[in-house]
Amino acid sequence: MSFFFLAFSAAWKAACSATTQNPTVVVPSSRNFLVYPLIFYGPCKSSQISFQLIGTISSPSSPSVWWGRDRSKWLTFNGVTGLLITGTGTIDGQGSGWWGQSCRDHPNLALSLISCKQSTISGIYFVNSAQEHLVIYLSNNILIKNLHITAPENSPNSDGIHIEASQNVLVNNSVIATGDDCVSIGDMTSNINVSFVNCGPGHGVSIGSLGKNGNSVKVENIHVKRVNFKGSTNGARIKTWQVGLGYVRKISFEHITLQSVQNPIYIDQNYCDIKGARGNCGQKSTGVHISEVTYNDIVGTSSTYVAINLNCSQSVACTGITLSSIQIRSDKSGQQVISKCTNAHGTNSGVVQPKSCLQS
Ligand SMILES: *[C@@H]1O[C@H](CO)[C@@H](O)[C@H](O)[C@H]1NC(C)=O
Ligand SMILES: *[C@@H]1O[C@H](CO)[C@@H](O)[C@H](O)[C@H]1NC(C)=O
Ligand SMILES: *[C@@H]1O[C@H](CO)[C@@H](O)[C@H](O)[C@H]1NC(C)=O
Repeated sequence: MSFFFLAFSAAWKAACSATTQNPTVVVPSSRNFLVYPLIFYGPCKSSQISFQLIGTISSPSSPSVWWGRDRSKWLTFNGVTGLLITGTGTIDGQGSGWWGQSCRDHPNLALSLISCKQSTISGIYFVNSAQEHLVIYLSNNILIKNLHITAPENSPNSDGIHIEASQNVLVNNSVIATGDDCVSIGDMTSNINVSFVNCGPGHGVSIGSLGKNGNSVKVENIHVKRVNFKGSTNGARIKTWQVGLGYVRKISFEHITLQSVQNPIYIDQNYCDIKGARGNCGQKSTGVHISEVTYNDIVGTSSTYVAINLNCSQSVACTGITLSSIQIRSDKSGQQVISKCTNAHGTNSGVVQPKSCLQS
């Protein structure tokens, strides 16, 4: 096992210090590589470096193997510019051993890009992570495309892609079916686009949760379009804690289809997850300001009665919400769906079904 650790590290070091154009590390199809936590550091000498995954990389499947090791990461690229991760290989988190255990004990069995720039990840299959499958953190100019990410619907915290403290990230043409968010967007993010994604089962595309520690949130220019939600617990969701400050603005969800989605359009500005709350729940005079949010061309079925739920703060209302060309009906014949608004202000255009409840 440590042989593979050394082999990968040595191959990366050689490629990263090569002065040739596009040095490449190849993970061949010949076998399943079992690896312990690995960090591939940049910067590299060449302006582009490739990591070609053809075979399978698996993490140790037994939680006990991780005792005494850093559980926060598994495969990490740190500080690399011009990284190209390609191939049709698989990254297997072997997370099932953790799914029955407390979340705190889970290693973050993910592929992480930390402080990377001008990089692409394409074509890879991800399965069964104990936590997020792909994390983009402190990075800029990242293209993520043609990925397949799957984990069982009941696997806790198995987000597909988590993006945080990053700018200019495009997630395109991917299939994500997991037990948590298909894509989750964290704090300090801007210019993030998510398009041509099939999402579900899972918790939808979520911005948040944000502001949990009373921090000043900065999230803007997030555009989600041509996403198909199927059997997910949410569609387009924004969730913030009342104790938070700052803003979430210039957001759009467009050309979305829904098939039996529980909360197709959902803003929860009163988000509270009792387990991690530390007294941060309940009515507060603070709030993260949510503004300039457009929902356009959203069509399909809801599996619950409240298809549109804009539950905004009493202290810091949502403003500049636009509902345009919305046609959501129940997935059960003969049943109605409704919209519910609390402190949600904005305008409607075109057909809005169920009838809008926005205040001007
Ligand atoms: C995104 O995916 C769509 C659909 O497959 C494709 O037409 C488009 O060119 C892709 N865009 C990028 C930037 O990869
Ligand atoms: C992101 O989406 C916005 C709005 O649809 C668009 O103007 C912008 O060009 C997109 N950026 C990328 C990198 O795809
Ligand atoms: C809105 O949020 C409050 C506070 O969490 C909750 O009590 C209420 O039920 C929510 N309303 C809807 C319609 O979800």
